[in-house]
Amino acid sequence: MKQDMIVIIDLGSEESALVAREIRGLGVYSEIHPHDLTEEQLAAIPNVKGFILNGGPNNMLDGVAVAPSSAILESGLPMLAVDFDGAPQARQIKSIPAGEEGKQLLREFIFDTCGAQANWTMENFIADQVELVRQQVGGKKVLLALSGGVDSSVVAALLLKAIGNQLTCVHVNHGLLRKGEPEQVVQVFRHNLGANLVYVDATDRFLDKLAGVADPEKKRKIIGAEFIRVFEEEARKLDGIQFLAQGTIYPDIIESGTKTNKVVKSHHNVGGLPEDLQFQLVEPLRQLFKDEVRACGTALGLPDDMVYRQPFPGPGLGVRCLGAITRDRLEALRESDAILREEFRNAGLDRKVWQYFTILPDLRSVGVRDNARCEEWPAIIRAVNTVDAMTAEIEEIPWPVLHTITKRIITQVPGINRVCYDLTPKPTGTIEWE
Ligand code: XMP
Repeated sequence: MKQDMIVIIDLGSEESALVAREIRGLGVYSEIHPHDLTEEQLAAIPNVKGFILNGGPNNMLDGVAVAPSSAILESGLPMLAVDFDGAPQARQIKSIPAGEEGKQLLREFIFDTCGAQANWTMENFIADQVELVRQQVGGKKVLLALSGGVDSSVVAALLLKAIGNQLTCVHVNHGLLRKGEPEQVVQVFRHNLGANLVYVDATDRFLDKLAGVADPEKKRKIIGAEFIRVFEEEARKLDGIQFLAQGTIYPDIIESGTKTNKVVKSHHNVGGLPEDLQFQLVEPLRQLFKDEVRACGTALGLPDDMVYRQPFPGPGLGVRCLGAITRDRLEALRESDAILREEFRNAGLDRKVWQYFTILPDLRSVGVRDNARCEEWPAIIRAVNTVDAMTAEIEEIPWPVLHTITKRIITQVPGINRVCYDLTPKPTGTIEWE
């Protein structure tokens, strides 16, 4: 293994992720693990040079204060206990000070006390994960649901490097993807990277199921359930799959709740797994933060527009084609969204704005086209910035860009005669309209 590691033991601190980032910022790889690591689990973590026992306000579990397992306490490795006094052999401090003072303290601990080397780079991370995945999987087969989003794409690229054709990727096109997306997934993974890719065009299946359904939550449920059904059908056709790979990343784990921290919102790839799951999981990105996942994708040679893709909801255009989805309105939405994305790229806004897209409401307004009255749909532009998607501010798009987008949409997209610009922050408006 190429990288040294400092393990942070989660004893109820809310700052563990920050500490991990701080240590990685000093050039040493750091992972966060639960307090009850067994000897076997600990042995499976490579190159551990020391522990930070990170106590804090959430240190009670079922009415009992959490404490590190004996495997941790008897490891003989250096330990720094932060706000935790149940480990007499550890150096104890009340908290890690802010700023340079805290950095200096961590530097002393990780380099002087633990003797760790500053050898955390993306290349070393990839090399280590490749080796770990090979150890875990052996000669067996792995299945991955490849949505084309950043996380699943990076996992696919990493696993291809590790196990090549032992990996099968399944890309389900539910008919609600953006223009060019399924084609890009096929191009990049099947043609450029030579992956085993099963491409399923399930558009008709999804749109038939969704016909006439206007309630947003019903739409979401139908899309989610149908997705699992299609994926399972494809999985059943494949022989001898024993592992399921997932693009779980560290923020998914935090939000789904660790042993000591409460659930923010459950993520499907963490908390929502079926109980009778007969696969073992392969999750090589589970300790990475989003920016590190992108850096990993770039280091693996994925194209920028895949690695820096804006967030896109699972139900896709389905929650932007408001009310009951029809094929013609969905097509108008997809085209208007493609124009918006292209003009954002032309204006250099694509990397600056967090999320930007169009919405097509289920209503028509009167307009005039070719000297005749027309009744067509409006397209609504939404562009927002946010840190955590809980609140959001709108991006102030320059007028000339708005004019260009409007002109292109009303002349190039059949069925749209009007373009509106959503000025609403969150709250009160959510980012999506449904
Ligand atoms: P809202 O609309 O709640 O969205 O302000 C916050 C963020 O979550 C995304 N979003 C979803 N993502 N499935 C997803 O995977 C969904 O059903 C869903 N609904 C909203 C939204 O795009 C935004 O980034």
